[in-house]
Amino acid sequence: MPEPGSGITSVMAGLYPQRCPATPPRTAGGCEPPPAGYGLRMQAVVWHGRRDVRVDSVPDPRIEEPTDVIVRVTSSGICGSDLHLYELLGPFLREGDILGHEPMGTVEEVGAEVTAVAPGDRVVVPFNVSCGTCFMCRQGLHSQCETTQVREQGSGAALFGYTRLYGQVPGGQAQYLRVPFGNTLPIKVPDGPPDDRFVYLSDVLPTAWQAVRYADIPPGGSLVVLGLGPIGEMSARVALHQGAGQVIGVDLVPERLARAAGRGVHVLDLREHRHDLADTVRELTGGRGPDSVIDAVGMESHGAPVGKLAQQSVSLLPDSVAEPLMRRVGVDRLHALYLAIDIVRRGGTISLVGVYGGMTDPLPMLKLFDKQIQLRMGQANVHRWVPDLLPLLTDEDPLGVDGFASHHLPLREAPRAYDMFQHKRDGAVKILLQP
Ligand SMILES: NC(=O)c1ccc[n+]([C@@H]2O[C@H](COP(=O)([O-])OP(=O)(O)OC[C@H]3O[C@@H](n4cnc5c(N)ncnc54)[C@H](O)[C@@H]3O)[C@@H](O)[C@H]2O)c1
Ligand SMILES: [Zn+2]
Ligand SMILES: [Zn+2]
Repeated sequence: MPEPGSGITSVMAGLYPQRCPATPPRTAGGCEPPPAGYGLRMQAVVWHGRRDVRVDSVPDPRIEEPTDVIVRVTSSGICGSDLHLYELLGPFLREGDILGHEPMGTVEEVGAEVTAVAPGDRVVVPFNVSCGTCFMCRQGLHSQCETTQVREQGSGAALFGYTRLYGQVPGGQAQYLRVPFGNTLPIKVPDGPPDDRFVYLSDVLPTAWQAVRYADIPPGGSLVVLGLGPIGEMSARVALHQGAGQVIGVDLVPERLARAAGRGVHVLDLREHRHDLADTVRELTGGRGPDSVIDAVGMESHGAPVGKLAQQSVSLLPDSVAEPLMRRVGVDRLHALYLAIDIVRRGGTISLVGVYGGMTDPLPMLKLFDKQIQLRMGQANVHRWVPDLLPLLTDEDPLGVDGFASHHLPLREAPRAYDMFQHKRDGAVKILLQP
């Protein structure tokens, strides 16, 4: 086993070259980008600034380490986590960063030491860059992988396409992706069914699964899911599948409420319950509040004017000022978390799956302590839940993954897709980009 951290230098060093300045196109005429073909220049979704992502022509990734794999991406999700990069986390990105952490595709090339997959294999790539063999990975804590932990930033495992805080690893909203740890990281999936069957193994499914496990719902018990984006909605589906007695979902977007209602979730529209949401939930749960609450909203919650103002003022500052400020005094919009603390029953459990990143968030410790609330959270440990999930990705499709995407769009439409997803327009709930 490697010493903690010893692998990071070579692994991460190999991940950087993909972001070198673009070299001149290698076509005969020298000006048009060549057609896609590995070894040339690929199309990728590139971050240029706040609310500014573009599809650029960038050098294809290459095998850098003997355990690397190059994947030709066939589907790649846009996630609520990408929206944090789009809106808020600019100071931690660099112009030219390639986004995306929910890809699947076909193995194009493997390094000399890769035996677990071969060219032509169909694979899903987890969003955590995890080695699979260290102390953390061996106990299913892949998001804390000690080989890829980004120690200089004080962060856990590196993530694909996710800021300097998480290793600035080129992401998977691209035609090709370099995947390290080729023997342990890619998830091999069968040929046959469409990508939609398997692509959510990269993030949505294991994240929702972990959210439900961490919520510790007693058999037949009650759950409130705050936020019915892809993560919240899938968490509600998983909870019902696992036998929760009552699942209440809260959001403020009509299409999202309707989708969840269609799967047997009792939905509450936040816009109609601005002042009585907690009381309404208590009424629905025997006066006590639910056994468990999943917060699938995170740091950009609606209905939190104070945090919003603070976030906006910081994100408008020049990066050199904003970054240290965010690190020292950054705050989240805590509306959803406060709601969760208010509504969960005494002795109940809150599972935070929405991402929070503030350094100085005020928490009502008296209430947390007095109500004896259990609190669990974290990035999903993708590989840990794959053995539970794969058997559910059958033709019976109990979690409804086949129809889960609201949109399939070509990669070149990524700028429109980000805009649509952020503004929740045109019924956008889950968008899959197809390179
Ligand atoms: N822990 C992990 O490993 C992990 C993985 C993937 C995503 N996430 C996080 O999960 C969160 C949700 O992701 P998503 O893809 O579903 O994104 P999303 O942005 O589409 O979903 C968030 C939903 O919350 C709703 N909402 C906003 N404020 C609300 C409030 N006060 N009460 C109730 N609902 C509210 C929005 O209308 C939206 O439908 C994000 O923070 C994302 O970063 C975490
Ligand atoms: Zn994601
Ligand atoms: Zn590891």
